[in-house]
Amino acid sequence: MIDKLQALKQQALLDLEAVSSLEELKNLKVRYLGKKGSLTEILRAMGALSAEERPKVGQVVNEIRTELEEKIDACGGLLEEKTLAEKLANEKVDITLPGRSVKIGHLHPITLTMREIKKIFMRMGFAVCEGPEIENDYYNFEALNLPKDHPARDMQDSFYITEEFLLRTHTSPVQARTMQSLEGNAPIRMIAPGKVYRRDYDATHSPMFHQVEGLVVDKNISMADLKGTLELFLREMFGNSVKVRLRPSFFPFTEPSAEVDISCVICGGSGCRVCKNSGWLEILGSGMVHPNVLAMSGFDPSEVSGFAFGMGVERIAMLKYGIDDLRLFFENDLRFIRQFK
Ligand code: PHE
Repeated sequence: MIDKLQALKQQALLDLEAVSSLEELKNLKVRYLGKKGSLTEILRAMGALSAEERPKVGQVVNEIRTELEEKIDACGGLLEEKTLAEKLANEKVDITLPGRSVKIGHLHPITLTMREIKKIFMRMGFAVCEGPEIENDYYNFEALNLPKDHPARDMQDSFYITEEFLLRTHTSPVQARTMQSLEGNAPIRMIAPGKVYRRDYDATHSPMFHQVEGLVVDKNISMADLKGTLELFLREMFGNSVKVRLRPSFFPFTEPSAEVDISCVICGGSGCRVCKNSGWLEILGSGMVHPNVLAMSGFDPSEVSGFAFGMGVERIAMLKYGIDDLRLFFENDLRFIRQFK
């Protein structure tokens, strides 16, 4: 019996040497030491032994069991290390490889232009105000001295949602909203940038476009303040050599009203295709706030006066960057957009 045990041990050790994976090791352990394993079988057969022989054989069985267990565990440890080393070697990351570059987008030319306009006015102490894009008839027209059925409403082809609500056709309603919220307390010095909507579509008009409104209300505000402020703005925007002129115009909410032109940024004033040989470019609408508009929104026109202006951001961007079709801004053609990094 002892011989049989020794032979079993030798065989087990030989088998152990041949083991090359944790899976094989597990099987080996079961084969020799498991419930139905060879060693256990021998142990069961011990019942047939004599009382003298039994403890001797038992001791040998235990010794072999312990030895095998130890060797199997040691082999397991080695195999685990080997597997880990292999895994590390296979899954090695080459940290010297150059990284994949992250593609960073950039701002849309209209956003860039908006930001530039805002920055210039903020430096002059203007606050930035906002109003809703879905506006009601009162703020979009009536509060701006454009009563229902006023013919000047036709200047702005509008998108009506109901009789009462429309997509705002200009940022001027923010004038009335701001004045109302201040309850007659001057001074006001604000700009209101945002989207506006009109039923237009061609190379210089899009149904959605951007405006920046401006409003200043205080004691003794005059046309000279209007001209000075806009001149400063336009020089910052288009360069110091730009000339500015005011041309009489009409808006129901300003009196007097003026169209502001700058000397052509393409030809410098000598005449070209862009300025239609006039040397001048129309850039924004402006005027002294109409007394009715002040009064309707809670300011006393005998106490304070003001000026207002409104400019199209697309138009300014087109002139600044030399773009000849406004629709390019909204077609999302990357070949166009990427030029404004
Ligand atoms: N709201 C006018 C427009 O959209 C522009 C404007 C604003 C004119 C303020 C005068 C004063 O055409």
